[in-house]
Amino acid sequence: MSEIQFEIDGSIVTATEGMTVLGVAQKAGIYIPTLCHHEKLEPFGGCRLCIVEVEVKGWTKLVVSCVYPAEKDIIVRTRSEKVDRIRKTILELLMAHAPDAPELVKLAKVYGADKDRYEKDPSFCIHCGLCVRYCNEVTGKNAIGFVDRGINKEISFIPQIAAVECNDCKQCFPLCPTSYLQAAFVLTQALAFPSAVNSGPETGE
Ligand code: SF4
Ligand code: FES
Repeated sequence: MSEIQFEIDGSIVTATEGMTVLGVAQKAGIYIPTLCHHEKLEPFGGCRLCIVEVEVKGWTKLVVSCVYPAEKDIIVRTRSEKVDRIRKTILELLMAHAPDAPELVKLAKVYGADKDRYEKDPSFCIHCGLCVRYCNEVTGKNAIGFVDRGINKEISFIPQIAAVECNDCKQCFPLCPTSYLQAAFVLTQALAFPSAVNSGPETGE
């Protein structure tokens, strides 16, 4: 596979064709914030936090680095006034749903995001999709899915599968940036397969 070179934040980096800008940055030890990316999962491009500026032949554009392919001779800037402003707004919107999620609180400090900027709608899930995709793509159990659409979209355990598969798995639990997932599981367990609760399996965090 042929190699290409380009610039990230003033450093020349080398990539093989097919890599994303985020993948190259991570390999080179250059930090770009992410909320929906996981190295074992297919690129998703959902949270938009990994947005960066890319200059191609003198033209600058904003791209989502976890899905944008590395290209020869591009110039990538992981921070700029525009990038930081967009990340700040994304974080403020997410914090309307999960104001106390530690990952969001940490990032909010970096980008000066105000958790009270938007009216609170504490649904706690920020729709990163990590749990759903990990359960599908990595464990192959398909015990969680998204239900509904738009602002009503939420994750849901599929009780028939979760009752059999989840107690001995729970690999998705640490991936959730808000810990909503654990709460959703405990609720599903209590409502849909309470015998598993009574017989004493651990319920995670
Ligand atoms: S429950 Fe957590 S991991 Fe799953 S989509 Fe919502 S925020 Fe992401
Ligand atoms: S990490 Fe790229 S869109 Fe979420």
